Amino acid sequence: MTRVTIALPPRPYDAVIESGLLQRAGEKLGEVFSGGVGDWAAKAGGKRLFVVTVPPVRRKWGKKLMGSLATAGFAPQILEMPDGERHKKLATVERLAEKLSRLGADRTSAIVAFGGGVVGDAAGLLASLYMRGLDVVQIPTTVLAQVDASIGGKTAVNLRAGKNLVGTFHHPRMVLIDPAVLATLPDREFRAGLYEALKCGVIGKPELFRALETVDLRDLRRDPAKLEWVIAESVRLKAEVVASDERENGLRRVLNLGHTIGHALEAETEYRHFLHGEAVAWGMIAAARIAAAVESADSTTARRITNAVRRVGPLPKVEVRSRNILRLLQSDKKTRNGVVHFVLPREIGKVEVVNDVPEQFVLEAVDELRRLSK
Ligand SMILES: NC(=O)c1ccc[n+]([C@@H]2O[C@H](COP(=O)([O-])OP(=O)(O)OC[C@H]3O[C@@H](n4cnc5c(N)ncnc54)[C@H](O)[C@@H]3O)[C@@H](O)[C@H]2O)c1
Ligand SMILES: [Zn+2]
Repeated sequence: MTRVTIALPPRPYDAVIESGLLQRAGEKLGEVFSGGVGDWAAKAGGKRLFVVTVPPVRRKWGKKLMGSLATAGFAPQILEMPDGERHKKLATVERLAEKLSRLGADRTSAIVAFGGGVVGDAAGLLASLYMRGLDVVQIPTTVLAQVDASIGGKTAVNLRAGKNLVGTFHHPRMVLIDPAVLATLPDREFRAGLYEALKCGVIGKPELFRALETVDLRDLRRDPAKLEWVIAESVRLKAEVVASDERENGLRRVLNLGHTIGHALEAETEYRHFLHGEAVAWGMIAAARIAAAVESADSTTARRITNAVRRVGPLPKVEVRSRNILRLLQSDKKTRNGVVHFVLPREIGKVEVVNDVPEQFVLEAVDELRRLSK
C-alpha cells in the first residue's frame, strides 16, 4: 500500500494506492468519516454516502464497492449519470442534485465519485455545490483519473463554448486508487492515461520516465506492483506540484506540458479524433521539438521523449493544418496578455515555462507531427 499526502492546509488529504483496495473502501472511508481508525464501523453507522457513477463502471465494479461500504456500516446509495464527456454538463449536475434532494441528502451526507475523470469532475462539482458543499471521496477507475484528474481538487463541467468553463476547487477528503479496476479498461483508454504518467516523468520524475520508456504495456497491465508504483509516482508528482501552487498561478502550470498543442489538436478536431491523453502525447512530442529548436533542451532529450511517447502505442493521425493550430493557440486559455505559454522540457525531470516561442517553431513542430503520422 502506498499513501501520498496532498499537503494542503487547512485539510491535507491522502491518496491511498493499492491493488484490491476497492474491497476495503468501506474500512478506508470509515477512517475518514470517524476521524481515525478504531471502532469506525460503529461510528460510520448511518453515514449516508451517495455513489455517483456511470453504467459501465457500475456493471463491472459496483457490487464490490457497495458490498464493502455496506459491510463497514454505511448506508450507500447509487446515483447514475449517463456515460461520456458530452454529459459532463450543468444539466447533469442539476439532475443529480435533484436526485440527492429527493433521497433526503443533507449536509452530513457525502458523495463518492466512482468512475473516470468525467465522473470525478461532475460529482466533484455536485459535491461542492449541493447545500454549499458536501464531503467528497474520489475513487477513480481510469488511468487518467488515477494519475491525474482525481488529485488536486479541480472540478468542472463543459459549456458549449468550451471545455471545463464552469468549475470550482473542491478537494476530496480522500482518494482511493485501486489499480485492479483498470483490468476492464479498454487498451486505448489505458494507453491514453499512461501518457499523463509519462508527462509526470518528464516534469519531475526521471525514474518514472526511465521505467516507462522501456515498459512493455502488456507486462505492465499484468503486474500489479509495477502498476501501483507507476501510479504512485505520478500521484506524488501531482501532489508536490499542487501543494506548492493550489490555484495554478505559477508552478502548477508545469502540469500543462504537452497540453498547449494537445488542447489545440483536440479543439481543432472537435474532440472526436483524439482521446485527451493521445492529444497530450502528440503535444509532448511537439514540445520536445520546440524545446530543441529554442535550445531549452538538447536533441538527445527531445528524441528520448519522442521515442518514449511513440513506444506506448499507435496514435490517431495528426492531419490538421499547422496554421489552424497556431490560430487556436492564440485564443487558448493559457494565453495571458496575448502571450502563448509553452511548458518545455529542459532535461528528463526538469521543465520550464517559456513565453516567447517564435511562431515558426510552432508551425514546424505541428508539421513534424503530420510527418510522423504518415
Ligand atoms: N479535474 C482535473 O484535474 C482533471 C484532470 C485531467 C482530466 N480531467 C477530466 O477528465 C475527463 C476524462 O477522464 P477519463 O479519461 O477518465 O474519461 P471518462 O471518465 O469518460 O472514462 C473513459 C471511459 O472509460 C469507462 N470506464 C471508466 N472506468 C472503467 C473501468 N475500470 N473499466 C472499464 N471502463 C471504464 C467510462 O465509462 C468511459 O466510457 C475529462 O473530462 C477531463 O476534462 C480532469
Ligand atoms: Zn491532461
